[in-house]
Amino acid sequence: PCVFILNGPNLNLLGKRQPHIYGSETLADVEAACRETAAGLGLSLRFHQSNREYELIDWIHEAREAAAGIVINPAAFTHTSVAILDALNAFDGPVIEVHISNIHKRESFRHHSYVSLRADGIIAGLGTQGYALAVQRVARLLAEAAR
Ligand code: DQA
Repeated sequence: PCVFILNGPNLNLLGKRQPHIYGSETLADVEAACRETAAGLGLSLRFHQSNREYELIDWIHEAREAAAGIVINPAAFTHTSVAILDALNAFDGPVIEVHISNIHKRESFRHHSYVSLRADGIIAGLGTQGYALAVQRVARLLAEAAR
């Protein structure tokens, strides 16, 4: 099975952008860690980042055919995008929402997530480690669904 890992706006700058909040690992480092975890679990991965809302939506639509599960860090679209929520509601497999920072410890506008209305689980504040943990959770949910 394939898992899509989708990243929203500004995450291309991971490692350079506000390292006191998001750490010094780059998105390429995150991808490498996810690939290692996925390989060990017998999963394949597609890893994407975009600053454009429609591209994230198009990947979620593709996932309907091509993915068993989705790990998504929608970044700022978390707090604004009904369109991403609607797209995820059209996807049947497990969805795990990841935030590198603890959004509940930050500005109040980050406390609400549209995507959480669909996510099967949420990881926030575990740094970039959260992504590989989310991949593990998707593997577990897929195994449970197959039983
Ligand atoms: C983020 C948290 C969001 O509030 C923010 O807009 C981001 C990244 C995180 O991973 O902690 O861009 O999703």
